[in-house]
Amino acid sequence: MKEPPLNPRLADLPPYLFVALDRKREAAVRRGRDIINLGIGDPDLPTPGFIVDAMAEAVRDPSLHRYPDNRGSEAFREAVAWFMRERYGVRLDPATEVLALIGSKEGIGHLPLALAGRGCAVYAPDPGYPPYWTGALLAGARPVRYPLLEGNGFLPDFGSRPLAGARGARLLFLNYPNNPTGATASPGLFSRAVAWALERGAWLAHDAAYAEAFFDGARPPSVLAAPGAMRCAVEFHSLSKTFNMTGWRVGWACGSSRAIRALAEVKSNIDSGVFTAVQAAAVAALRRGDAAAQAMRERLGGRRARCAAALERAGWRVFPGAATFYLWCATPGGIPSARCAERLLERAGVMATPGAGFGPRGEGYVRFALTAVESRLSLAMERIAAVRW
Ligand SMILES: Cc1ncc(COP(=O)(O)O)c(C=O)c1O
Repeated sequence: MKEPPLNPRLADLPPYLFVALDRKREAAVRRGRDIINLGIGDPDLPTPGFIVDAMAEAVRDPSLHRYPDNRGSEAFREAVAWFMRERYGVRLDPATEVLALIGSKEGIGHLPLALAGRGCAVYAPDPGYPPYWTGALLAGARPVRYPLLEGNGFLPDFGSRPLAGARGARLLFLNYPNNPTGATASPGLFSRAVAWALERGAWLAHDAAYAEAFFDGARPPSVLAAPGAMRCAVEFHSLSKTFNMTGWRVGWACGSSRAIRALAEVKSNIDSGVFTAVQAAAVAALRRGDAAAQAMRERLGGRRARCAAALERAGWRVFPGAATFYLWCATPGGIPSARCAERLLERAGVMATPGAGFGPRGEGYVRFALTAVESRLSLAMERIAAVRW
């Protein structure tokens, strides 16, 4: 009797580094220990009421119970085009340059299947959100890490290897505001990225999942506003983080019509779109969500400022990004990130994410997700300050 094999590509996926830490957390919780989970970036606040109301109304409409339009409803795509014009001055054709996604992760994970075939080089930031790497691996492409270094403000350096040269590049992932570092990019950086891609005949994929989570009043730019971007770039947006909608699974891709068509073709063979009632709720969020987004910014910005100050008072080196609800910090004394996270769990009852989980260049850092209510965050900061390293 022979057991059937699995797809060998699964063996190439990086190990899930947090398994051991997660087990420890679960064991501590079972023992009755109070653990403050600042590991995963899942907003603790509820989805704003007007979005829930829009969903409740839409879900009663039987015409929306059928298979959705694969590309997204016309109303959704038009709302996205309106939003991109209002927020970024980017003009999009809702028929050909916008695609609904079952959360931006779904589109990011599938993009290499659409744009990068077997063996094609896909450049992924290190440290970076893991699906850039794993999506390329699953598509049979060849992921290549490029470093985001502290000395360069966690921005890509197009004048250094591996991005300088990189003649065979097919696809480059960028992510600003950046997870895990909180760094933001300027329009000038996006112009350089577009020039880099066009020189090489490569695609650019910009993950803007945290585009609305900025705290210094300056809206981070869209890569699509850079000259030439509509010929080579696709940008991913998400409703998850802006409107506390992680569970709803809705986002979009927009940009080059060729890239959008290719991604839509891949998806039409794999999924059947986003529940149309969820899209109706997303339309309400996009068209009427400015005040809710601003309230989110005020609340999360306050958390960020207070926690960064508390950690700095406790002697931590905190990176000063003005966006995302993450705090990226150097580990005390440069100890390995997994050991740092383990000690935080054991000695402070605080769960953080070890930087090494985002790639080798994340070693020596940990990430705190500020997705707990203020009183719990204050308690977490007090407990962290009391740890002797
Ligand atoms: C950088 C980044 N991009 C994309 C996503 C995916 O978000 P969603 O699939 O909920 O839109 C996340 C989620 O944590 C993220 O951190």
